[in-house]
Amino acid sequence: MHGVGKSVTGPEGEVRILDDVDLTVGEGDSIAIVGASGSGKTTLLSLLAGLDLPTRGEIALAGQSLTSMSEEERAALRARLIGFVFQNFHLLPSLTAEENIALPLELSGREDPERVGEVLAAVGLGDRRRHYPRQLSGGEQQRVALARAYVAHPRILFADEPTGSLDQTTGRHVSDLLFELNRHNRTTLVLVTHDLSLARRCQRVYLLGNGRLTEQAAAA
Ligand SMILES: Nc1ncnc2c1ncn2[C@@H]1O[C@H](COP(=O)(O)OP(=O)(O)OP(=O)(O)O)[C@@H](O)[C@H]1O
Ligand SMILES: [Mg+2]
Repeated sequence: MHGVGKSVTGPEGEVRILDDVDLTVGEGDSIAIVGASGSGKTTLLSLLAGLDLPTRGEIALAGQSLTSMSEEERAALRARLIGFVFQNFHLLPSLTAEENIALPLELSGREDPERVGEVLAAVGLGDRRRHYPRQLSGGEQQRVALARAYVAHPRILFADEPTGSLDQTTGRHVSDLLFELNRHNRTTLVLVTHDLSLARRCQRVYLLGNGRLTEQAAAA
């Protein structure tokens, strides 16, 4: 993204969320974005993934300009290239864990029950496959959301606080899984996190504050 600004009009007038943000993420990179609550991290991630459009500036994904595409073109590009773990999971309440995870494969005409079983096991939910979201704990829902985001082998995985609802051990397991995807499949990782142990495992860490993004020096 280049020169990106984002303002929205809320109930209390104009909110300037992002001011002038530049960011380049290479294929196979892993980056973490940190910053205070309300600093605009979720907004930034939604823009990078083409879920939202900036007020100013340019954003390209895999060499294609998101800012000059139609909504349908952006949706098609997202379906082909990206996985997204939402901060509040966005699971479909009327589908079981297994059905939620199978959805991206079905939508792209690549049904693959074996793959679904594999990712369910990888996130430690082999024995919860037929539970509906309301029958899952917050951390279990978060892991279903992660499984759904990577089941269809995305080139880029965006994850908004992927370990936010997990205990330390489960969080470590989920972050191992993310970096395994990064190492073995060269899946690009763009993570928003308050979890410093997760952030430190990324190649680069950026701090968002006052509408601007600055790269943090590598930890000693
Ligand atoms: N549609 C909207 N209308 C008005 N204000 C909004 C809107 N969306 C976001 N905001 C405001 O923009 C700011 C940034 O929101 P955002 O969700 O990106 O923050 P965040 O860094 O992800 O925070 P958190 O760590 O709490 O998840 C917040 O102050 C929020 O209230
Ligand atoms: Mg957020």
